[in-house]
Amino acid sequence: MTDLLPAAVATALARVTPWDDAHFLTGLEPGLEGHNALLELAVAIRSEQQALARSRPLAGRVFAGMFFDPSLRTRASMAVACAKLGAHFLDLQPGTAMWTMEFNDEVVMDGTAAEHVREAAAVLGRYADAVGLRAFPTRGQWERERSQPVHKAFAAHAGVPLVNLEGPFAHPCQGLADALTLRDLFAEPAGKRFVLSWAPHPKQLPVAVPHSALWAAASQGMEVVLTHPEDFDLDREALALADGLARQSGGSLRITHDRDAALDGAHVVYAKSWGALSGPASTLGGHADVIASHSDWRVTEADLRRGAPARFMHCLPVRRGVVVDDAVLDGELSSVLDQADNRVWAQAALLLALLRR
Ligand code: CP
Repeated sequence: MTDLLPAAVATALARVTPWDDAHFLTGLEPGLEGHNALLELAVAIRSEQQALARSRPLAGRVFAGMFFDPSLRTRASMAVACAKLGAHFLDLQPGTAMWTMEFNDEVVMDGTAAEHVREAAAVLGRYADAVGLRAFPTRGQWERERSQPVHKAFAAHAGVPLVNLEGPFAHPCQGLADALTLRDLFAEPAGKRFVLSWAPHPKQLPVAVPHSALWAAASQGMEVVLTHPEDFDLDREALALADGLARQSGGSLRITHDRDAALDGAHVVYAKSWGALSGPASTLGGHADVIASHSDWRVTEADLRRGAPARFMHCLPVRRGVVVDDAVLDGELSSVLDQADNRVWAQAALLLALLRR
């Protein structure tokens, strides 16, 4: 297959060392070196996109995307990444066009679920060369959900690589695209200050994106500052992983509830909303109280212009006037469309690395 690849893509692909079991559940499976090799492959694919559209190196391959929760970017960008490489994207939506599914073992299936993951995943593994899965966590069950049990069940039974298209603990495709965007923004991201700032939102959103964003910045050797109100701590293991990546890449991780201090000197402000994982703030009423008292955590243009202007990042979708001002999203400092665009190239790199096996 490398015969069909432009030389720059073939060279970059050869540097991506296959990782054990080929699943992409946290995005950390390839290791720091493998992660950065995927980013270099993404850059090569982006540069050679016209040649790749002609050579179609993944012609005949199938990627099945299973979406238990809504998506615009992930679904569309994965379909486009497949199209760019000649693969077919199978778009599956359980509960609407598909049977509802059971994930627990040894249950009597006399409820609403019509099919067990053991058969569903195995059948998809017969049809597709890799399977993608989006499934958000059930709120209030963090100790169970943090291990991404639904994704692990699919991975165990599919018999082909499983790509996490956002789970409870991680959104690795977003993280890969965000790391690519940081490399695009700065010739040398290492040492630049990356501030991940909690932002208000009426819903208690998952923590997958903030986890993956921390890992993305830490993997690039950035000075990572995480700021959020008290009681909105991210998962302990996710923080430990970010700290480990930062140490490995020469960066750092600091956590503060002082948003003003965090924003001073920022090169990037990445806003993201999430719900508390435990404690009073994790209840509906507790969350509403925090939102009411922290509306000033919305990102404004003034937040970005405290020093050398900081770039604004957000994974989208975003609520204007709640998470961030219109002037920021519509202004020259916003990188949100570049982040969305990079989803295509990051995922194309991942597909090529997985499906060349
Ligand atoms: N950023 C992201 O994953 O967007 P979607 O939820 O629209 O897929």
